[in-house]
Amino acid sequence: AREFSIAVIAGDGIGPEVVPEGLKVLKAAADAAGGAAFNLTHYDLGGKHWRETGEALTDETLEELRGYDAIFFGAVGDPAVPSGVLERGLLLKMRFAFEHYVNLRPTKLLPGVASPLANPGDIDFVVVREGTEGPYSGQGGYLRYGTEHEVATEVSVNTAFGVERVVRDAFARAQTRRKKLTYVHKHNVMQYAGHLWRRVVEKVAPEFPDVEFDYLHTDACTIYMVTDPSRFDVIVTDNLFGDIITDLAAAVTGGIGLAASGNINPDRTSPSLFEPIHGSAPDIAGQGKADPTATVLSAALMAEHLGLNDIAARIQTAVEGDLAVRGSGVRTTSEIGDALAAAAAASVK
Ligand code: IPM
Ligand code: MN
Repeated sequence: AREFSIAVIAGDGIGPEVVPEGLKVLKAAADAAGGAAFNLTHYDLGGKHWRETGEALTDETLEELRGYDAIFFGAVGDPAVPSGVLERGLLLKMRFAFEHYVNLRPTKLLPGVASPLANPGDIDFVVVREGTEGPYSGQGGYLRYGTEHEVATEVSVNTAFGVERVVRDAFARAQTRRKKLTYVHKHNVMQYAGHLWRRVVEKVAPEFPDVEFDYLHTDACTIYMVTDPSRFDVIVTDNLFGDIITDLAAAVTGGIGLAASGNINPDRTSPSLFEPIHGSAPDIAGQGKADPTATVLSAALMAEHLGLNDIAARIQTAVEGDLAVRGSGVRTTSEIGDALAAAAAASVK
């Protein structure tokens, strides 16, 4: 009964090293939790595919991907491919086409994990990063290209519909947590987009009278993330601000080796995509050095999205147990994956 079709895109660099570990732990947890079948279909997309075919992701493959229950993704980015080609042609193409308007980035400092902050406190918040518009829209262009008077514009597109759906989702998430929402923008300078966000938040807020909301400019948000990160519960913000603050959020909670994400379509009209926040790390690719933990935690987010809370809990418990005793010993990518798989099989939750 619990059977799911999953498209697997390992992608570039360390992607093909960490993705099998995520799947390994997922399977171990599923078997121990009384079963769930994941029918995996691997798609060989990324830098190598682009260099061989000139295609990042054809419309035809995109439509095929639409038929899966979820997509499990590694990383994009290949030094031999011009910057932006794969990012836009593969990852953003899926985020936009599949309406991944909630880019969910849980941020929690787990016991045993060293934070670079002297007094981190209890860090436990989620960032709801808008995932389909804003400065990522790809609108803009050049005038007088290559001349001394060149003009480059990069337009941030914000629709009332797009902002409202993500703000409402963030309020609803806050309602299930500590009931505090911080919306982050830059309305002192972004006079159109910033004010649209503000008006939308004020319009939606009365639907969630038990959720307290406040506002921070993005620059101020980065200060608090370092000086007082425990003040945050749920943060909702635009696509680019969310990209930036979630790298900082990962850094203060142990690094991007631990940071998971879900590109979620809450309406479930197309598959959601789960991936570590980190990139392809070409400098360490192929050496078995990458930490698969972020990918393993992304598998837990995927399990949760598929309604497999028992499996997600097993994975989460396994990771927390491992982190608590991890110390500074060096293990390979697959050694960490094996340990997490064994723990996920053993943990009773
Ligand atoms: C992320 C990444 C992507 C982004 C890149 C690879 C396009 O940095 O998921 O945070 O900017 O969204
Ligand atoms: Mn990023």
